[in-house]
Amino acid sequence: MANHKRPPSSLLFIFGGSGDLNHRKLIPALYNLFLDDYMPEKFSIYGIGRSEYSEDNYRGYLLDGIRKYSRRKGEENGTWKKFAAQVSYLKMDAEDESAYFRITELVRAKEKEYGEHPNVIFYLAVAPQLVPDIAVKLGPLNICSDTKCTRIVIEKPFGHDLKSAHELNELLRGMFDEEQIFRIDHYLGKETVQNILALRFANALFEPIWNRNYIEHVQITAAETVGVESRGNYYEGSGALRDMVQNHMLQLMCMIAMEAPVSFQANEIRNKKVDVLNAIRKYEHGEVQDYAVRGQYSEGWMHGEKVPGYRQEKNVNPGSNVETYAAVKFFIDNWRWQGVPFYIRTGKRLHNKCTNITLQFRRAPHYAFPPEAADTWRPNRLMISIQPEMDIRIRFQAKKPGQSMTLSPVDMIFNYDQAYSDHEPEAYETLLLDIMEGDATLFMRADQVEAAWKVIMPIQETWDSRQPVDFPNYAPDSWGPEDAEALIARDGHNWVTLPGHEE
Ligand code: BG6
Repeated sequence: MANHKRPPSSLLFIFGGSGDLNHRKLIPALYNLFLDDYMPEKFSIYGIGRSEYSEDNYRGYLLDGIRKYSRRKGEENGTWKKFAAQVSYLKMDAEDESAYFRITELVRAKEKEYGEHPNVIFYLAVAPQLVPDIAVKLGPLNICSDTKCTRIVIEKPFGHDLKSAHELNELLRGMFDEEQIFRIDHYLGKETVQNILALRFANALFEPIWNRNYIEHVQITAAETVGVESRGNYYEGSGALRDMVQNHMLQLMCMIAMEAPVSFQANEIRNKKVDVLNAIRKYEHGEVQDYAVRGQYSEGWMHGEKVPGYRQEKNVNPGSNVETYAAVKFFIDNWRWQGVPFYIRTGKRLHNKCTNITLQFRRAPHYAFPPEAADTWRPNRLMISIQPEMDIRIRFQAKKPGQSMTLSPVDMIFNYDQAYSDHEPEAYETLLLDIMEGDATLFMRADQVEAAWKVIMPIQETWDSRQPVDFPNYAPDSWGPEDAEALIARDGHNWVTLPGHEE
């Protein structure tokens, strides 16, 4: 978030070093930072895992990840070799307390070699149930007593519900200061998400109309075409509400709904966001069905390919009631947003991959045109496409060329690719750099995570206590269950898709 220079010397210990996240995201991100000269002059990365790897095999495995998943896929003229020389594999059973002394030894050795005290970063890219156990073992290592240099990074999901998130916060608080704890929500590292702050608070144009007087409703869609892939085990304990809504979707909502910050200090931004979470109306269990819809994908066809239903996926219970789709209508009870519905939806195996936010404006207060001019009249909209398209479009009415007065909606588009030649960094690049610099603006504070769980809990509890009767209830390659259409149609609206993304 800060304007970056090179961060200070850093040691990164990545728990889950042989896992998917490290392979697909973390190492490619660190390597891209290296290529862009953003890595510290002195750094070492240690992948920690239980699998057996020689140093060479491990580096080969990581290079394979870069070739498959990085935005730059090559070795870039020998640069990979220089980077890989700083990467090692530490075979270690994270549950074995006695193994942790090796970390202390490595830190001491590097301190001597660097001639200074480097940042020591523990990145927990592991299954959520392992997090408390590893944190407890890191606590007594003493390296953690230097609050300035030692950091612990926790991936989402942070806790399984409000109670476990609170307990985990308490546990971490017992060992680390809040400034040392970096709770990741990778959506906050996305360029287009950060740009929401620029759009709203660096322009005089939008803020005066950014409220209930002008905005009729807001929609946020995060649609994916993939199923649960190899993550059945994890997803069975999660579902769409925990996996996407509790974190990514609520954070997007905060970016849209927050008040203007006084400064860009981490705590100022986070205070403004937590205000939004606290103001989101919490539903009674008995009213959840009026505001929330869940779905699960059946087997079917996805872009010409036969795909299994959720219940047929690997490591999924064949009678599973876990939701792969969630749509919720929220309200924010404050002056700015009173009465403005925020509709959010997310799901897997939907027709298109796209994340976008739409603000739909109220009708013009007086309509002077003849009725026939208005056949194609549409309300004004501001649409922010987060991914894969990266653009912002404003829809307004224009006169169609010709002798008659006919109105039609047109889009004014700002497109990242057309406006900038630079390739935007991946979310994890931004976040890893911020961690090395100790900038927590884009990370979740303890109270934010708990406030987000408070929003979700009534829905989660209601869904857990009432089995769905119609699962699976949507086909792959669709836009989700019919009830989700009804949720928004009842209010006279419809879900918005980008031009070209319709069915
Ligand atoms: C992760 C979820 O946090 O976000 C995944 O666990 C989901 O289920 C992913 O697929 C989506 O991220 P992105 O960046 O592809 O939108």
